[in-house]
Amino acid sequence: MIPHDTIDVIMDTVRIEEVVGDFVSLKRRGSNLIGLCPFHSERTPSFSVSPVKGIYKCFGCGKAGNAVNFVMEHEKFTYPEALRYLAKKYHIEVQEEAESAEEIAAKSEREGLFAVSEFAQKFFSGQLLNTDEGKSVGLSYFRGRGFSDDTIIKFQLGYSPDEWESFTKQALANGYSREMLDKSGLAIVKDDKMYDRFRSRVIFPIHSQAGRVIGFGGRILSSDKSKAKYVNSPESEIYNKSKVLYGIAFAKNAIAANDMCYLVEGYTDVISMHQAGIQNVVASSGTSLTVDQIKLIKRYTPNITILYDGDPAGIKASFRGIDMILEQGMNVKVVLFPDGEDPDSFARTRRSSEVTGFIQKSAKDFIRFKIELLLDETGNDPLKKVSIIKEFIDSIALIPDRLTRMAYVKESAERMKMDESVILNELNKVLRNKFRKQADLTHEEFEATIPEPEVIPAQQPQTLDLTSTEYQERELVRLLLAYGPKQIKMFSLAEGQAEPVEVVTTVAEFIVNDLRNDGLELTFEVYAKVLSEYAKLVDAEAVPKPEVMIQHPDPVISRCAVDLLATPYELHDWGKRRIHIPLEEDEEVLERAVTSSLLAFKARRIEQLLADTAKEIREPAPDTDIMLLMRKYKELKILNAQINKQLGRIITR
Ligand code: CTP
Ligand code: MN
Repeated sequence: MIPHDTIDVIMDTVRIEEVVGDFVSLKRRGSNLIGLCPFHSERTPSFSVSPVKGIYKCFGCGKAGNAVNFVMEHEKFTYPEALRYLAKKYHIEVQEEAESAEEIAAKSEREGLFAVSEFAQKFFSGQLLNTDEGKSVGLSYFRGRGFSDDTIIKFQLGYSPDEWESFTKQALANGYSREMLDKSGLAIVKDDKMYDRFRSRVIFPIHSQAGRVIGFGGRILSSDKSKAKYVNSPESEIYNKSKVLYGIAFAKNAIAANDMCYLVEGYTDVISMHQAGIQNVVASSGTSLTVDQIKLIKRYTPNITILYDGDPAGIKASFRGIDMILEQGMNVKVVLFPDGEDPDSFARTRRSSEVTGFIQKSAKDFIRFKIELLLDETGNDPLKKVSIIKEFIDSIALIPDRLTRMAYVKESAERMKMDESVILNELNKVLRNKFRKQADLTHEEFEATIPEPEVIPAQQPQTLDLTSTEYQERELVRLLLAYGPKQIKMFSLAEGQAEPVEVVTTVAEFIVNDLRNDGLELTFEVYAKVLSEYAKLVDAEAVPKPEVMIQHPDPVISRCAVDLLATPYELHDWGKRRIHIPLEEDEEVLERAVTSSLLAFKARRIEQLLADTAKEIREPAPDTDIMLLMRKYKELKILNAQINKQLGRIITR
């Protein structure tokens, strides 16, 4: 049990941005910080952290909470586990009663596994550093590989003695249960016998993203080919191979800081690179890369460089894994090491500047690399050339971003000395097929819904339609979504009254009724839909908070809510009224924003009507009453002037 006072101290001390920042790379935006949401897959940040309020919130998936909720959700901790984690992070002492063997046994399985793993790590380190056998066998092995003592300590390397049950005995004597030893895989249990899984091996502890030991890899020291070079922990409640990357805890800050992650194969590659001063390195540990691992990297950077030791067969085998990275919308480069070298041997024998220099010089874009590798195989045979187009086009087709795809079409056409249109045609075929499969359509159904084919985008800049009401409509809808239920005081001229009176209302009620009274509708379909939804909600007196609209069952509405709420700052970069979100929290500013947004929308509508009327006057249809049109024009002009006066600005365009 954690005492109440301690919980209070923890809650007072924690800083949400620091807690979240350990897992998510955050950038400052105004008074908040934003980053890529760790709870769902996204490419533009909609995850926001408010240091002032002490909360995080994702406008994409709706997850929100305080620092404790964050670690519970992210690390799958229980409440007390989360508190202990935070206490440890902030060096707050938690006075818990000494643990008895019974209590250890009673702890949850996860906590038991964490505990036994930490115990094992300490045991193995102790063996390596403080025993004769450890020093003469394990430590000399690591030193022989060029690992410095600092490196050995940092990665918590260890040694498991050449005995059947030296660890198992120690663990049992310290109150760790047979069950935990079995489940963690630290001991192998056969009938009534138990023995050490890692006996007679050097130990590489595997850490979670948060830096807790969750598993081990043990390397054999002899060159006995009949035994596996590495023995690894089996999967457990805390160790899920497909979700972990070796070295992530040591690399995560450097990955974010360098906006780049190097991916290598093995434990020793990671360690040697670190020792050479390159810290943004992780390893997939021999297994093929998984989507979860890619997503883990993506929390910190969209850029991956894969470091290969030059074996073409191995490289080709890894193409599928790389395609998955492309599919996640990440940028992939590859580096091929000279024959017979791997990142470990290369980094060990060179200065850090040489290593980085080499990587920077030889890093190749993956698709370029793939084309070259394929071209090497086909030589100049034109028929064979055609046969490889499909192979790299399949990779290009996986890239979510259209412009990036087009850049590759250009690039590969040049490389292959082929016409762009040939490649584009092939790409369109693949994309169409993909679309059809995804939509699960038959050929006939598909023909009816053929998507736009890819085209090289024209170089023309997008023209801004100065008469469109899009911006004004979007602004009104944004106010509805962000502040709908918020109370404001407005002046309103009710029927039969001479003077406007102050009324207490809500943002949604005011906007809906104001537009209704003037008989105005929004012209963009999405915005009109949101407005009519609010009209219903206002009538039912049930205008909800933004979170609810983000989760709205109608995907058009929820999508719109996410779009407008997730990127509130962009809207104001236009320099239109320069009202910033935090200011809108202020009631008066919000009231002004509502008023001016309504006026701005009306002003634009009137300008549109003026333009239409002017056109009608210039090119009258037969039977038009020109005088009537002229009067209408004049009235609109007067209205326009009034509104502009109210807006307190002169329309300049
Ligand atoms: N691996 C494994 N089991 C094996 C062989 C390899 O789990 N039997 C994993 C390990 O995570 C290893 C990685 O695959 O780190 C890469 O394998 P390899 O290059 O053979 O090992 P290194 O770590 O480079 O070891 P060394 O340099 O000592 O040969
Ligand atoms: Mn190696």
